[in-house]
Amino acid sequence: MLLKRSHSCGELSKSDLGKNVVLAGWVDTRRDLGGVVFIELRDRSGIIQVVFSPENNKETHELSSKLRSEYVIAVEGVLRERPEDSINKNVYNGDIEVYAFKLEILNTSKTPPFEIADNINVDEALRLKYRYLDLRRPIMQKRIKLRHDVSLFVRNYLNEKGFYEIETPMLTKRTPEGARDYLVPSRVHPGNFYALPQSPQIFKQILMVAGYDRYFQIVRCFRDEDLRADRQPEFTQIDIEMSFVKQEDVLNLVENMMVSLIEKFKGIKIDTPIKRLSYKDAMNLYGSDKPDLRFGMELIDLTEMMSKTSFNAFAELKEKGGIVKALKLENMSDKISRNELDTLRDKVIKMGGKGLTWFIFNQDSSIKSPILKFFTENEINSIKDIAKINNGDVLLILGDDYDVASDILGRLRLEYGKKLNLIDNSKFSLLWIVDFPLFEWDKEEKRWVAKHHPFTSPKLKHIELLETDPGNCFANAYDLVLNGYELGGGSIRIHRKDLQQKMFKVLGLTDEEAKQKFGFMMDAFEYGAPPHGGLALGLDRIVMLLADCDNIRDVIPFPKTQTATCLMTNAPSSVEPKLMKELHIKSTLLKKEE
Ligand code: AMO
Repeated sequence: MLLKRSHSCGELSKSDLGKNVVLAGWVDTRRDLGGVVFIELRDRSGIIQVVFSPENNKETHELSSKLRSEYVIAVEGVLRERPEDSINKNVYNGDIEVYAFKLEILNTSKTPPFEIADNINVDEALRLKYRYLDLRRPIMQKRIKLRHDVSLFVRNYLNEKGFYEIETPMLTKRTPEGARDYLVPSRVHPGNFYALPQSPQIFKQILMVAGYDRYFQIVRCFRDEDLRADRQPEFTQIDIEMSFVKQEDVLNLVENMMVSLIEKFKGIKIDTPIKRLSYKDAMNLYGSDKPDLRFGMELIDLTEMMSKTSFNAFAELKEKGGIVKALKLENMSDKISRNELDTLRDKVIKMGGKGLTWFIFNQDSSIKSPILKFFTENEINSIKDIAKINNGDVLLILGDDYDVASDILGRLRLEYGKKLNLIDNSKFSLLWIVDFPLFEWDKEEKRWVAKHHPFTSPKLKHIELLETDPGNCFANAYDLVLNGYELGGGSIRIHRKDLQQKMFKVLGLTDEEAKQKFGFMMDAFEYGAPPHGGLALGLDRIVMLLADCDNIRDVIPFPKTQTATCLMTNAPSSVEPKLMKELHIKSTLLKKEE
């Protein structure tokens, strides 16, 4: 490159008129208007028009006819105002242009498989295969820049509050976050494996024992789990741990940081303290532990009322420990068809529910329902009272186990919230979910498992229930929710060996197993472990929401597909038999060991 860049495309403005400038970047578009060649030159900072005219420099003009999209060039010219008739008011810098007298073609380019532009309709697989081209698109550059800005903001914020950023190992022992691990075979220790961390949970607790007081890390975590739009096999956490704190201290720090972050990047001011809901209330009212509170539509409990009716399928649920719950769709009696309701019922069954029924309260006060005949007039009035029904409303009703009915209605609430345009997309609704149960019952394995992870401390008053009544033990644990997404989760930890041992016992670990898996941590607890607690936020999810995206792949430079592959590098891939041998691994898929 002979020319030396003096400016970036996006930094030039009218205040630079008359300056000699050297720019470098990619040819975005090229137009040859019979004699004069116009190109849009793009770099990371923006786009500017460059004009090649034979009047200015004949040779340069001739060379410019060779330019094609995505060629890499350097140009030298004078920044001038565009003639009145070529001003483009729709774009930044649309009133200035570079009148070029020198051109250097630094590299050519094949025709890209898709246009390098923002609003393209291209299969995501193609975008991921040619990610370097996809990442050239201005919108992607903006998102990646936002990600950088958010990380920097968090680093500065936490640094100011006295946190150290400390790295923890990537090749480590299996951690207990509940997902499957990615394992790395050891060459020097045949048959042994490292695990990539699902989170730095144990190390950050050990750092507290080591006296580091306030730790954070923007850190990559790995989980081999079923992927969704907000889940990647490798993702990034803003991981935080603090010593000598109570739950309140962690919540205050994190909510103030998040409120400042949202104000800085979205210009939205959120009042503090942000709303808190107990896990129980969240499940009762919204059927979800990450409810989207940008709209109401609270679930309605009809269990008690139904228990006194002669409609047995619902009446007996109270005694069996089940529930009857309803979702009210306001003003939908004319808009919802029998067909839609039948489809909805099939869907509920597919989701694992027993079925779905409904009441349609028509505008003319008539009522339609497949189960209408089972109820007296008084009972119908009672349903109307409890659900605050107006003519025109539709009530969807589900009777089932608590978890099943809550979960399904929670999902229908979201579906209809979106469908009926009840969600104000300009709102940012931050919410703490607190008072989680310490355990949940794993129906398949028939044992208690940790709701968060095994290092979460029970509420002081529930310690005595640990062994006798685990189901009624609540935890000093909390989740942060934004617009229906779980942004983060954490807890105050157990810091005493005896309590940690009890916890492992409830989780079904023998002393031997606990020692084998977490012995080093229990040892550490015997050397003056301070009380501590923390939380981890999902950086990808934060950036996704700030960037108004609904898929975290759009804010991760090199994401994996839904089936955990990288379409650009073709990972994962098989490796040479020699390497497998070195790692002491035999694949059951290979027909013959070589
Ligand atoms: P948890 O498992 O709740 O807690 O994870 C914290 C946050 O990380 C994000 N997250 C993910 N983001 C994208 N893809 C994934 N597969 C994924 N899994 C989790 C979420 C989630 O809220 N060690 C504890 C934290 C603690 O107790 O301090 C932990 O990892 O936003």
